[in-house]
Amino acid sequence: MKQNLFNNLPLHVAIIMDGNGRWASIRGLPRVKGHEAGIDAAKKIINKAGEMGIKYLTLFAFSIENWGRPQDEVMYLFSLFDKAINTYSDELIANGVKVKFMGTLSLLPPDIQEGVSLLESQTADNNHLTLVIAMSYGSRQEIVDATKAISQKILNDQMTIDDINVDSFRQYLYLPELPDPDLIIRTSGEKRFSNFLLFQSAYSELYFTDTLWPDFDESEFEEAIADFYNRKRRYGKI
Ligand code: FPP
Repeated sequence: MKQNLFNNLPLHVAIIMDGNGRWASIRGLPRVKGHEAGIDAAKKIINKAGEMGIKYLTLFAFSIENWGRPQDEVMYLFSLFDKAINTYSDELIANGVKVKFMGTLSLLPPDIQEGVSLLESQTADNNHLTLVIAMSYGSRQEIVDATKAISQKILNDQMTIDDINVDSFRQYLYLPELPDPDLIIRTSGEKRFSNFLLFQSAYSELYFTDTLWPDFDESEFEEAIADFYNRKRRYGKI
């Protein structure tokens, strides 16, 4: 089973890490404690994905809608992200992880923007695992941004309407080189996309688990990959 599983790995796994707040509430803890535990879970899964030989892992860390959360939660989250970048960057560099951030990054606090671009440049030549962190990310916004960029090219006579097709449109997404996710995992029992990779997920396999993100561990990740192994992907054909 393990042998087969490793032979049919998804190239790109994307995860909607949900349930930190509920994990904390059921323990009588403040929500932010759930986010702290969420960072530990993310670290485990990044290491596991690298170990298994998965080439692309995308984690939905902060949506563009998350800016609407109470300001103290948002501030705490960014202090956690800042701490995580400082704590783990050496390890990510040493483990051959290429880190990319995706989203409306101009909205991030300036010190986080600096940390983000430093980590991207420090890991740019790595090629073991590409880790994409979706931060301040909204898929509708991404599609609108792509449409605006294409419209501008047409206005500048650098492109015509006939040049627009699925492949050329893709070139205007935030990370055009990122392959479509083969598998999207969402934790915590919710079954929706929440504005995540809407263009890219056209033929993704979906995996839902009731496990809250802080409890999602290496063995659950393996289970999700094993489940993917049994899927029949037809891409609209027979
Ligand atoms: C989802 O739980 C969590 C988030 C939206 C926030 C941030 C994610 C982490 C801290 C995990 C790891 C981060 C990185 C950078 C890899 P929720 O708050 O929506 O939970 P709830 O639905 O139970 O309220």
